[in-house]
Amino acid sequence: MIDYKNSGILGYMTDEDLDWLHQTVLTLPNDAIIVELGSFQGRSTVAMGAACVGTHRHLYCIDKWEGVFPGASGENIDAAAAFDVFQTNIEHSDLEKFITPIKGTTQDIVGSFSMVIDLLFIDASHFFQDVLDDIVAWTPKVKLGGIISGHDWDRGHCEVNEAVIQVFGQQMVARQKNKRFAHHIWDLVKDQNYVE
Ligand SMILES: C[S@@+](CC[C@H](N)C(=O)[O-])C[C@H]1O[C@@H](n2cnc3c(N)ncnc32)[C@H](O)[C@@H]1O
Repeated sequence: MIDYKNSGILGYMTDEDLDWLHQTVLTLPNDAIIVELGSFQGRSTVAMGAACVGTHRHLYCIDKWEGVFPGASGENIDAAAAFDVFQTNIEHSDLEKFITPIKGTTQDIVGSFSMVIDLLFIDASHFFQDVLDDIVAWTPKVKLGGIISGHDWDRGHCEVNEAVIQVFGQQMVARQKNKRFAHHIWDLVKDQNYVE
């Protein structure tokens, strides 16, 4: 069992966030396709990857790996080293066979991504227009009954919240409030009401 809460990997996920990711992946079919937009050094990736062990679930990680990212503060690392750091962290966790990294922008990659997604987790750029574009471009790839989710549903990330509400409406606000959860992840199940 991978101790994903003590991976030592730098990132912005709380223990509760990591638990949500891990537990959610455990609920998915044995052959689920998972897509993470914005993996940074792999902190969230390892929590999800740990729930793929012993299954045919597979996680695709899309990131520019340029070392810096817009819309968030924190440690920036050398651009040349960014991807290597991610890869090393995945290797140390023994998860290479469950994880496929795809280097590029979320908008460049979406056109060529042809798999049907069971779980989409959005945590790339945190600017309003970028979050909106990611939701709109990637949600059509999620199967009906699949889960659309993202990080940073909290007061400090107004632009993320605004983009989520713009696409999914005010019911999202009520839904998230009612949950009173400890983590910072917004989520919903894709249903017939979603119009592409
Ligand atoms: C907040 S970090 C992700 C944190 C990560 N999920 C974790 O657990 O630590 C955001 C990441 O998104 C990437 N990113 C930002 N904008 C992007 C874009 N347009 N396309 C691809 N990756 C992007 C950055 O390179 C950065 O690694």
